[in-house]
Amino acid sequence: MIGLIGGSGLYEIPGFKVNERRAVETPYGLPSDEFMIGELFGRTVAFLPRHSFKHNIPPHKVNYRANIRGFKELGAERVIAVSAVGGINSTLSPGDIVLLNQLIDFTKSRVNTFYDGDDVVHVDFTEPYCPELRESFIRASEAGGIKLQSSGTYICVEGPRLETAAEISFFSSMSADVVGMTGMPEAVLARESELCYVALSVVTNLAAGISPVKLTVKEVVEAMNRSTEVVKTLLSGAIGLVPQRRDCPCGEALEDAGM
Ligand code: HPA
Repeated sequence: MIGLIGGSGLYEIPGFKVNERRAVETPYGLPSDEFMIGELFGRTVAFLPRHSFKHNIPPHKVNYRANIRGFKELGAERVIAVSAVGGINSTLSPGDIVLLNQLIDFTKSRVNTFYDGDDVVHVDFTEPYCPELRESFIRASEAGGIKLQSSGTYICVEGPRLETAAEISFFSSMSADVVGMTGMPEAVLARESELCYVALSVVTNLAAGISPVKLTVKEVVEAMNRSTEVVKTLLSGAIGLVPQRRDCPCGEALEDAGM
């Protein structure tokens, strides 16, 4: 089973044949919503909208631990995350899709680990995204002639407010390419769960101070809606190319990570 997390504006995947909606309880509480389980491009996929189907959970209140544990309990080994981002790198425009390879965590008040009890665990996070899943997306974009920025650094902010122009200028000097509010702790919780995790960022707007217009949520949702078709095509190609068996280090993330 492959997990799929949808971000703002991505609540439906065209062509997704839903067989079941399943509520999952976890020791960390309830995930954002029920999981929609079905068939997508020949594979069993569990879809979860990060902000719930009603979109009433803001980024800083998402129960990231319950979401990731939910996928684990369903038996997923891999999670593909889609999210809306603001473009910082001047080469990016709204509608561009970035396959992340690095991240910087600027969140402030989120529970960011499963290991806050007696177990002392420090997972390696040098490469935060699964190399094998990344490769599937790169190959799918090449095969389908789909424009994809094959690497990029994501900076995760706490939100829910948008950034100041000075913050974006600072993030730019730190080599961040895109900014969003949901990539962390999602990515590290997946690593701590030994799940493969890959993130596809859809640029919905130019970041604060770069954008010539006032940033609005309407702009973000409309841009995401415009990108749904191409995201779907990319997902279909990539999911079809994901090997049946994992051959990446993600499944052994906890080896040598504990004290
Ligand atoms: N900043 C932070 N998060 C976002 C943005 C942004 O400009 N656009 C979409 N998500």
